[in-house]
Amino acid sequence: MDVSPTQHVALIGFRGAGKSTIAPHLAALAGVEAFDADRELEAAAGRSIREIFAQDGEAHFRDLETKLLQTLLDRPPAVLSLGGGVILREVNRSLLRRCFTVWLDAPRDVILSRLALDLAKSDQRPSLTGLSPAEEVAKLLEERAPIYAKCADFTVDTSRYSAEEAAETIWKEWKTHAATGDKR
Ligand code: S3P
Repeated sequence: MDVSPTQHVALIGFRGAGKSTIAPHLAALAGVEAFDADRELEAAAGRSIREIFAQDGEAHFRDLETKLLQTLLDRPPAVLSLGGGVILREVNRSLLRRCFTVWLDAPRDVILSRLALDLAKSDQRPSLTGLSPAEEVAKLLEERAPIYAKCADFTVDTSRYSAEEAAETIWKEWKTHAATGDKR
């Protein structure tokens, strides 16, 4: 089946769930662009996320995140790799209803070991709770998992697939969704 995407695919999920890794594979399969919300936000603000959190606080970051999500949704259909906390605000959850939204899930220990291994990014990630990494992941995953589930049209456990396989699975589902016009 050859279906051109008419909706964005929004990748949601916790830090370390695989959003940025899977996004380019999915974009290549669909023949669309991939945008990483965190990187776009940093480019627009001219500061790193860590700096924004440190200088202006999380609430300001969340305002910028909502603005950016609106900007991304005004572009032609693309793969949107969104920050892990995008599902926290109702306005964002409502915007996500315009997308085919995919929750990239993974067990807590897998997320923790991916975050520990991702040294290049560890300096850029502001603490969200002031807790140790293990406690933060446990607390926030428990709080957020029901919200990710509620926002998602489709869920992939990324610990069970390579990035390429996960992208193939999502692309197949995205095409079916586009063809049947499924709505939550
Ligand atoms: C956040 C996740 C980060 C980034 C910011 C806040 C969160 O994105 O948006 O540090 O609240 O979970 P990634 O999930 O892409 O690391």
